[in-house]
Amino acid sequence: MTQKLSDKKLAVLGAGKLGGILLRAYLKQELFAPKRVTATVSHAEKAAALSKELGVQVMTENRKAVPGADIVLLCVKPKVVAEVLNEIAPELNEKTLVISVAASVPTTYIEEHLGKKVPAVRVMPNTPSAVGCGMTGICRGAHAGAEHLETARAMFNAVGRTVVVDEKNMDAVTGLSASGPAFAYIILESLAEAGVKVGLPRDVATLLAAQTMKGAASVVLETGDHPALLKDAVTTPAGCTIDGILELEEGKLRVTLIKAVVKATSRAGELLFEK
Ligand SMILES: NC(=O)c1ccc[n+]([C@@H]2O[C@H](COP(=O)([O-])OP(=O)(O)OC[C@H]3O[C@@H](n4cnc5c(N)ncnc54)[C@H](OP(=O)(O)O)[C@@H]3O)[C@@H](O)[C@H]2O)c1
Repeated sequence: MTQKLSDKKLAVLGAGKLGGILLRAYLKQELFAPKRVTATVSHAEKAAALSKELGVQVMTENRKAVPGADIVLLCVKPKVVAEVLNEIAPELNEKTLVISVAASVPTTYIEEHLGKKVPAVRVMPNTPSAVGCGMTGICRGAHAGAEHLETARAMFNAVGRTVVVDEKNMDAVTGLSASGPAFAYIILESLAEAGVKVGLPRDVATLLAAQTMKGAASVVLETGDHPALLKDAVTTPAGCTIDGILELEEGKLRVTLIKAVVKATSRAGELLFEK
């Protein structure tokens, strides 16, 4: 697949935070050849700066960035998606793969705005993709086949892990793994703050908190064991962990996290309809 992608022409429309993370990763890993990559942003000065930094063609006109593209990676905000699709539709054909990262934008919406049988894949990555530790949910539209899913998986496996889900679950993916890093940072920051409270220097407390969260996550991913079983293994009868757990339960940590993901999921469904 790496070989195949390096032959493809990629257009990244909206190379902002997320688009920029992906573009930088693809160029660094030589997944795509710089001469076969174009990108767009809305401000001319940003286009010039990005072009200089990355050594690829960056412009402000989407319509000029897509001719000949095999893959169009749509990274603009949800409310700009329709405008961009209308702009590029005349330049696309049924062989162009459109991959959209826009939260709340269904594949049917993309297909309707393009007005032809263009294969569309919807993905929901997260910002840890910047360090190769991303998590991306992927689903395909009506005209996309297994080969299109495979291309999207290869592009997002390059920055972390991927999972294919039904499109009806994409808002849930948004609420859990796309918003999730923000929730995790708050938990991590709170653990570090607790370390400071019990006498640790801040840098040591932050290191302990971050590596502990990374370690716990790695054990779940590598063993496949249920988190409750792993928690039980840490919790000695009448030891100190059970006292800490009692505080967490009294503070309603579980229900608070569940409610945070539920709220973020329902909000994810609304973004497209905002002015
Ligand atoms: N950030 C996340 O954690 C995350 C996670 C998953 C999915 N997403 C999705 O990723 C998308 C982008 O989010 P973001 O956080 O990366 O936003 P962002 O940093 O604001 O990036 C948006 C980019 O789009 C450019 N742009 C605006 N209008 C344009 C147009 N008409 N044509 C071409 N480019 C245009 C902007 O250009 P300028 O820079 O010149 O203003 C900017 O570079 C959203 O749809 C979001 O739902 C984000």
